Amino acid sequence: MFPTVWDTKTQQFHAGQDWKHLANFKEDFSVTTNALGTPKGALAAAHEALNHCHHYPPADQEPARTSLARFLWPATPSSSVPEGHARLLIGNGASELIDLITRTAPPGCRWRSGPWDAQYKEYERAAVNIGCELLPPDSTTPADLLCLVNPCNPTGDYMSLDRVQAWISAHAADNATVMVDESMQPWLGRDFRADSLTSAAAFAADLYARRGIRLYVIHSWTKLWSCTGLRLGSVVCPTAEACQQLKRYQVPWSVNGMALAFLDHVARDTAYLEETWRVTAEWRASLVDRLEQLNQRMGGAEWQVWGRAFLSWVWLDVGSEALADAMVDAARAAGTPIRSGRPGYERPTFIRVAVRAPDQVDVLIQAWSGLSAHAQLSS
Ligand SMILES: Cc1ncc(COP(=O)(O)O)c(C=O)c1O
Repeated sequence: MFPTVWDTKTQQFHAGQDWKHLANFKEDFSVTTNALGTPKGALAAAHEALNHCHHYPPADQEPARTSLARFLWPATPSSSVPEGHARLLIGNGASELIDLITRTAPPGCRWRSGPWDAQYKEYERAAVNIGCELLPPDSTTPADLLCLVNPCNPTGDYMSLDRVQAWISAHAADNATVMVDESMQPWLGRDFRADSLTSAAAFAADLYARRGIRLYVIHSWTKLWSCTGLRLGSVVCPTAEACQQLKRYQVPWSVNGMALAFLDHVARDTAYLEETWRVTAEWRASLVDRLEQLNQRMGGAEWQVWGRAFLSWVWLDVGSEALADAMVDAARAAGTPIRSGRPGYERPTFIRVAVRAPDQVDVLIQAWSGLSAHAQLSS
């Protein structure tokens, strides 16, 4: 029996836990981290910071916070502080910030996700913990706590900036708290900032002034910069005061010295980002081809590939629970775990496969070579 790492009665299931238990581990396809692996310069900076682990990390998160602000708003002249700096807070992963912001919402508030078929679950978990009423994703009732993951993990759906703005305006109640998670958006390409709510300060200010709506833009940096174990996330708050309110709740030094050193370095690593944009879409297209060929060889019903072409994963409906389970088991047995759509997302015919280099994909595809449409037919 494979070890269960999560206390599933109490904790929200997430992927990325199998690798440590696989003697033949080769590659983790279960998490949506960057296929390029951890940026080397930033990793060296984190290693170096370990030498200072007998000191407390800086309480103002500097200079990493300014470096991240320059990354988010690069047009700022180097002699001045970026406009959004006072509204930016770094967290111990985005998960810390999602929880923190949710705690600022009143108990009993009406919560809803984006309009997608499934959405990253931490927002819901945090809302349940404070006693929110959960509205369905197609609800027309305005929500007091509105949480949109865009691009959506796991479905890969994406709304452009003007659609997001219209969607928020239509679905947020007056005085609502709105979180928009743009963790996967930097993969869009060189111009990703133009499609980001971080560039729409006037929209956020207007929402707040006219309707009292507080818009928080969340980033998990653990995927783009492949540092899930280090823990790094950030939030751009609607106002400097809202940021101070979060700071009041945040545990001091929640972001450790190694993570801050990593961030300070990686925020200037433009070569890594250029390479990310160059290879991800190409490797994803190749992964999709390989999956389609595999499907044809197996001779079953056609699979449905979900998600935008720029993203770091594929959300795949294989149309059969038994086949999806068999693929999850075979991938794990080969040392190349994938994410089942069953736990948490409750989409048991789906699997999520991370984009990886073609030679790593070879190993995964080989793991499935012994499967046939039998499993499909028996479900
Ligand atoms: C969309 C999204 N947001 C936030 C997170 C949380 O990330 P972390 O706490 O590792 O920064 C994840 C992790 O998978 C995610 O996919």
